[in-house]
Amino acid sequence: MVTGMTTATEVHPTAAHTVAEAIQTRRSIRKFVQEPMNQDDLHEILRLASLAPSAWNAQTWRFAVVQSQDVKAKLQEAAYGQAQIGNAPAVIVVYSDMEDTLNTVDEIAHPGMGEQGLEYIRNTFNNVFGGQDVAQRGQWGLSQANIAFGFLMLAARSLGYDTVPMLGFNPQAVRDLLGLPEHVQFAGLLPVGKRAEDGFPHHRHSVERITKFY
Ligand SMILES: Cc1cc2nc3c(=O)[nH]c(=O)nc-3n(C[C@H](O)[C@H](O)[C@H](O)COP(=O)(O)O)c2cc1C
Repeated sequence: MVTGMTTATEVHPTAAHTVAEAIQTRRSIRKFVQEPMNQDDLHEILRLASLAPSAWNAQTWRFAVVQSQDVKAKLQEAAYGQAQIGNAPAVIVVYSDMEDTLNTVDEIAHPGMGEQGLEYIRNTFNNVFGGQDVAQRGQWGLSQANIAFGFLMLAARSLGYDTVPMLGFNPQAVRDLLGLPEHVQFAGLLPVGKRAEDGFPHHRHSVERITKFY
């Protein structure tokens, strides 16, 4: 036993889960049941993930859903051949588009805040990001998209689906394949489907190993 690590109890539920159950039962799955994704479930997973919080409600995340065999095969190539891409019924590409966010700030101001709120959001975004270059503010946008990436995995698990988060791919090849602008940054690829393997039980630091209490 490695000191400071914990191994979670094994559970294999298949139905809907609470957040705690989704966290407990999520594990990276790289082999999926070979059946098309239920489109209503897919939409619900995306909807739940879109409820993630972000600074100033910026919602910089964008999703590209790949289900076509042909595009999946090309995506797999861009991910250095990692087979879980082609094996999954759907792959959600999660990226941030900070330039789109900045060009459409009016959409994110909460209507309850009225005209004053809209003005505040416009000014804030202009003051904070106007002086930054595209790469710098893109990095900020990515930090927000990463939150939605986490939500997406748990949303999928809560509906009985499994995923594997992936950063092992060539970002430029994925931009080219999906026709995405140069400035977008990737939170990751997320193959989704029903598990056809058990995956590995959690192997994690203990709370004591990673936490200081003051
Ligand atoms: C940001 C990120 C990138 C990852 N990239 C890959 C990847 O490219 N290929 C892969 O097979 N697994 C990838 N993983 C999965 C990790 O190996 C896995 O999450 C980790 O070992 C913990 O295992 P678990 O997810 O089963 O709990 C990635 C995970 C994260 C969070």
